[in-house]
Amino acid sequence: MSVTEAGATIWLTGLPSAGKTTIAYELAGRLRAAGHRVEVLDGDEIREFLSAGLGFSREDRHTNVQRIGFVAELLAANGVKALVPVIAPYADSRDAVRKRHQSEGTAYLEVHVATPVEVCSVRDVKGLYAKQAAGEISGLTGVDDPYEAPESPDLRIESHTQTVQESAAALLALLTERGLA
Ligand SMILES: Nc1ncnc2c1ncn2[C@@H]1O[C@H](COP(=O)(O)OP(=O)(O)OP(=O)(O)O)[C@@H](O)[C@H]1O
Ligand SMILES: [Mg+2]
Repeated sequence: MSVTEAGATIWLTGLPSAGKTTIAYELAGRLRAAGHRVEVLDGDEIREFLSAGLGFSREDRHTNVQRIGFVAELLAANGVKALVPVIAPYADSRDAVRKRHQSEGTAYLEVHVATPVEVCSVRDVKGLYAKQAAGEISGLTGVDDPYEAPESPDLRIESHTQTVQESAAALLALLTERGLA
């Protein structure tokens, strides 16, 4: 007889280029190596499929986060570690996802990848900060669009002061502490 393992949603919120995706995939590798079932719901992929057609208005960002939260909860309720490296700039959107998990009795962890905008804008993995500075785009989270940092996340990762491996290890330690890994 098999027993369904404890699933959980682990949401990594933070600015563009903060390191959400990088840390999520590092953690995913470690969890898979330890035999866990893992799915990464990355913002860019989701926008191509599940949220195709949505833009970056407050309303569309909220809808995007609710859709991702819905899918993550389904996965987590079935024993998957759902890792979600998605900006999710609005506190009320994130709270709604947390409440949905709570009402279903599904574990939910909020991780703030708290890299300062000065560091993110130098990393600028997708060139968005440069485009915004050049006036080619607007509505960039943390620059000319809001980012409401979590007040009391389950974990805050200072990615600018540690390696990717150290960040993933801190997350794994939290999962272990909560009986999820
Ligand atoms: N400690 C660290 N943790 C995570 N990323 C780091 C760290 N140090 C340097 N980096 C680098 O920072 C960049 C982060 O990019 P990444 O795509 O993970 O950001 P993101 O938060 O997913 O951004 P976006 O919201 O645009 O998808 C990568 O190039 C990564 O190698
Ligand atoms: Mg990313």
